[in-house]
Amino acid sequence: MCGIVGYIGNKKASPILINGLLRLEYRGYDSAGIATVEEEKISVMKNKGRVNNLNDLEGINNLKGTIGIAHTRWATHGKPSKENSHPHMDNSNSFAVVHNGIIENYQELRKKLTDKGYEFLSETDTEVIPNLIHYYYKKENDVLKAISRACKKLKGSYAIEVLSKYEPDKMIIARKDSPLVVGKGNGENYIASDIPAILSYTKDFYFLDDNEIVELTRDSITFYNQELEQIRKRVKVIDWGAAAAEKDGYDDFMLKEIHEQPNAIRETIGAKLDNGKIELEDLNFSKEYLESLNKIYIVACGTAMHAGLVAKTIIEKLCKIPTEVDIASEFRYREPLIDEKTLAIYISQSGETADTIAALKLAKSKGAKTIAISNVIGSSITREADYSIYTHAGPEIAVASTKAYTSQVVLLSVLAIYFAEVLESSEDKLINKLKKAILELPAQVEEILKDVSSIKRFAKKIYKETDMFFLGRGTDYAVALEGSLKLKEISYIHSESYAAGELKHGPIALIENGITVVSIITNKDLMDKSLSNIQEVITRGAKIMMVTNQEMDNKNFDCIINIPKTNPLISPILSVVPLQVLAYYISKEKGLDVDKPRNLAKSVTVE
Ligand code: G6P
Repeated sequence: MCGIVGYIGNKKASPILINGLLRLEYRGYDSAGIATVEEEKISVMKNKGRVNNLNDLEGINNLKGTIGIAHTRWATHGKPSKENSHPHMDNSNSFAVVHNGIIENYQELRKKLTDKGYEFLSETDTEVIPNLIHYYYKKENDVLKAISRACKKLKGSYAIEVLSKYEPDKMIIARKDSPLVVGKGNGENYIASDIPAILSYTKDFYFLDDNEIVELTRDSITFYNQELEQIRKRVKVIDWGAAAAEKDGYDDFMLKEIHEQPNAIRETIGAKLDNGKIELEDLNFSKEYLESLNKIYIVACGTAMHAGLVAKTIIEKLCKIPTEVDIASEFRYREPLIDEKTLAIYISQSGETADTIAALKLAKSKGAKTIAISNVIGSSITREADYSIYTHAGPEIAVASTKAYTSQVVLLSVLAIYFAEVLESSEDKLINKLKKAILELPAQVEEILKDVSSIKRFAKKIYKETDMFFLGRGTDYAVALEGSLKLKEISYIHSESYAAGELKHGPIALIENGITVVSIITNKDLMDKSLSNIQEVITRGAKIMMVTNQEMDNKNFDCIINIPKTNPLISPILSVVPLQVLAYYISKEKGLDVDKPRNLAKSVTVE
């Protein structure tokens, strides 16, 4: 998804901008560009393809400007091309703009501007913005006012940076429904859509809220609301080390992040389970309130939604509250039954996923209390929700989520225990056992990761396949879904995940000689039934990779991964790890870009 970087200071801007864009490559993009301003002239350099290609553009080294904006584009309106890349200029070359998000009324604005004589050179929605600013500048003769008036006309979502030849020592930025942060330096300031882009320059961040506009000079940062009334904002110190966003000697971010899971889980648990009943930062629910609930919704996208599926079982078991899990983009449009007796939990690693944020706003508007679970402090979703709790996984750079998923499941388990303790809905014995099991998880993940050679060997054997199946029952089914998603995302192998008992109702027709089936069995009570399902596919010639913590008489599998025993409610945190490793090594065998899979974006800020 598109990325934004900006710099205003005394150093040459272009290398800082390109460096920032390189750090945003993980988001996924198809073109890149920068603009700097110098002696009242704006220079734009942009092209289709990789950020590094910008360094080959003629004249890029001659850009001496110390103020600049930069962008990586992930095509929405118009194909990837130089013309459609950002920055975009207005017809008079007075304003340059980069934009993340989608301008929903761009056609209407484009028509109005065309009627007034403006011409458009690209197919993008973005190009209306600099021209609209120019249009209002002619009326106002004031850059800030022109931008504010233009923003009021935009429908949809935007994070924008604007350079102007009229005020070459200033930069103006604005946001609505698309993330943007300001990094405060000394005699210099930085802007980015994501913290890691500028984390090596500063730790002091301001997070913009919707409809805010910021005017930056080298020495000042002034915040305004849309009416251009000055507002005050608090600086937040982000304590992620810059090294945390680097590869630390691993071949890829994904492999590094897989190995960071023990620590991410440890950090997420923190001191929450140390003594007595759980207390969670922001949450102070009463027994009466929790008893009044008739339903919990868990809403998210992709991997985060899979974490929600695991949590459903835990919450229902411990709290006895019916819990529904939904895909954010579906939830919004199906008129879900929400009232003040509904509690809605939203999970988002980035905290910026547009569908999840919109689904949260919907529940809030209908009177439900909302909880955000995110990995990014101050992210949009945490500012919208009534309550926020955080995973402490550190920055996750690889597009395919690993440590965020396991941290989310851990945090959701802790949340479920917190509810159960307030509600007194579960026996202390069960709760204490579960707490103890959660505390053992980091060491158990370490144990799994100590030796992954048999997974690597199996990956080598099957990487040329075109179809695979993942089967499980109960929480193992939730893991099957996640394992299958990981494989699709980074190895481009088609795979299906099924509740093992459902296989015979149709999909078994697809099982033929040589096909690979990954089976997850971690619940003793469901083992016999699951093994019968596996026998059915073995009979039809399937190759089996078995991930289990149970003793099995028949070990006649093509690959068996024994994982440590834990409470079945939280076994996904362990059983998912071999599936992440399998997807990783298959992708490596195929020679693919593990961290930046095709067509995918880390943070999907459009609906
Ligand atoms: C994108 C990513 C997925 C991720 C999903 C939700 O689709 O490619 O890997 O699971 O967004 O992201 P979030 O930041 O909301 O957890």
